Amino acid sequence: MESVTLIAPAKINLYLEIIGNRSDGYHELIMILQSIDLADKINVQKSSIDRIRIRCDNPQLPTNKSNIAYKAAALMTSEFPEAFVKHGGLNITINKHIPVSAGLAGGSSDAAAVLLGVGLLWNLGLTQSELEILGAKLGSDVPFCIGGGTAIATGRGEQLSALPSLENIYIVLAKYRSIAVSTPWAYTTHRQEFENIYNKDTQSLAAVHSRDIVKAIVNRDPKEVAQFMYNDLEKVVMSKYTLVLELKEVFVNLGVLGTMMSGSGPSIFALCESKQQAEEIKYNVRKTIPNQDLELFVSQLIGHGIQLVS
Ligand code: C5P
Repeated sequence: MESVTLIAPAKINLYLEIIGNRSDGYHELIMILQSIDLADKINVQKSSIDRIRIRCDNPQLPTNKSNIAYKAAALMTSEFPEAFVKHGGLNITINKHIPVSAGLAGGSSDAAAVLLGVGLLWNLGLTQSELEILGAKLGSDVPFCIGGGTAIATGRGEQLSALPSLENIYIVLAKYRSIAVSTPWAYTTHRQEFENIYNKDTQSLAAVHSRDIVKAIVNRDPKEVAQFMYNDLEKVVMSKYTLVLELKEVFVNLGVLGTMMSGSGPSIFALCESKQQAEEIKYNVRKTIPNQDLELFVSQLIGHGIQLVS
């Protein structure tokens, strides 16, 4: 095999609760992560030249060592030096469809696809849990992106337990192209503003809701899921980016099942009753906010992560 092509889906956070500080500088989290069918396409090809080369059709992204897809390939070369010597370098091509710096794990999913793709090209026979361990070295969301579907994540976000998958549910996803939120900034600001209540708050509404939303997912009841969606980073991001707050209010006023910011934002998603309702909501949001800077997608929740195309 000389090349593999993979689909790398985005994720949304149905739930993100910050529990407290960790000794490694990260935050202890409870998250519910959900794959969606908005996806990048990644091709990983063997190269006669002994190095890693990244190509990407989105000029916003660097193609050097700072690209997380490059870091994933470099990790494979250092973890499996004999395979690297045997098979040579890697050409990686990224067709970007997932908005960048959006809270949708676009970079993490590309990295997960590179790990899986290189593992296949080099016949390493890696299991999902071995790939997840490698993924955790690259970022907190990478392990989830490998298997995808619906999962509860704890620790830094890398400790995963699968939940029943929520398929055939449609969302509208909205993101202002010109707003990019830095994830470290969102978490650091949250710490500065709310550290005084960290770890003391286990009986809070949010902690109660994490059990309620899991129950709603087990019941596969989208209305109940929508009722218990939660994201601690909303208050930080929305107080700086008022356009994001206003966007969420537009969705609320249009009568969706529920609406929430994903991850560290600024993407907003809205859970809808049907594909038809999602298309109508998208149309009505566009009418209310004619600003072409606002990207809108109808997307579907899916039950898988990285998939091999060829
Ligand atoms: O793990 P990842 O590189 O995706 O995280 C990006 C940033 O988000 C970290 O540098 C950190 O500032 C913040 N973060 C955190 N706690 C987590 C996950 C991420 O503080 N559990």
